[in-house]
Amino acid sequence: MSFENILVEKRAALAQITINRPKKLNALNKCTISELHTAFDTLESDPAIKTIILTGSGEKAFVAGADISEFSNFSMEEGKRLAREGQEKLFDFVEQLATPVIAAINGFALGGGLELAMACHFRIASENAKMGLPEVSLGVIPGYGGTQRLPQLVGKGKAMEMIMTAGMISAQDAKDCGLVNHVSTQEELLPLVEKIASKILKNSSVAISAAIVAINANFKEGIDGFDAEIDAFGGCFGTEDFTEGTRAFLEKRKPNFPGN
Ligand code: COA
Repeated sequence: MSFENILVEKRAALAQITINRPKKLNALNKCTISELHTAFDTLESDPAIKTIILTGSGEKAFVAGADISEFSNFSMEEGKRLAREGQEKLFDFVEQLATPVIAAINGFALGGGLELAMACHFRIASENAKMGLPEVSLGVIPGYGGTQRLPQLVGKGKAMEMIMTAGMISAQDAKDCGLVNHVSTQEELLPLVEKIASKILKNSSVAISAAIVAINANFKEGIDGFDAEIDAFGGCFGTEDFTEGTRAFLEKRKPNFPGN
């Protein structure tokens, strides 16, 4: 896969997508959003890929937000379309992928950058990272799911404060409020993410996909998460991974999951 604004590498079952516009602090322009959609879609349909890492290039930024230069003269209709298309094409799309996606936040994750990290299944940050949703300082609100996913992760009051003040929080504060799971030095960030990914890779990818569906159901309006869990749980019993996982346990050996 070859792109203008992102890099995609594969290392066995692990894929890494790096947003690569360091001079613009990896800001998300239309082209980058479209390339990210294509890359995630292609990796999702590659049966060899079992976990995806998303990070930013350079030492300064994960993603410093949506590209402000692209929407500063938009009308109300254009603004609405920007948010809707972005949510569908990238943010909701990533959240609903069956392949686990880990955000490795290596610097600023602001606005659309934090929204993208929040759409990933979980987040790990380097200690220099700074996170926030500064949109109200520009006269707009988060439009790529930030008003929904930030309260889910940190609670309503903390989300209200972060969005209203437009302030940035440190990696340690982000860990303390549940926005990121771990904090490491910048050098150790990718090794740590890979270590956690290697634990994921040992497990049944089919069961992990079912777990993503069931967990996401908890946050979907009009869906009973417990029912979704029952369906997903039952579905596992029809998979070869379940047969192998339970047989391996009973035979006191490590499972060799076929992945279907
Ligand atoms: N959209 C477009 N361009 C952006 C950008 C964004 N969200 N964030 C950074 N850039 C560009 C800058 O315009 C600058 O480009 P230039 O060199 O051509 O002038 C370049 O990236 C470097 O940014 P700069 O502001 O010079 O770096 P800094 O270290 O002084 O400040 C930030 C870093 C992150 C504090 C600052 O860039 C910033 O506030 N960015 C916007 C954050 C934001 O509001 N995001 C939400 C958007 S909805």
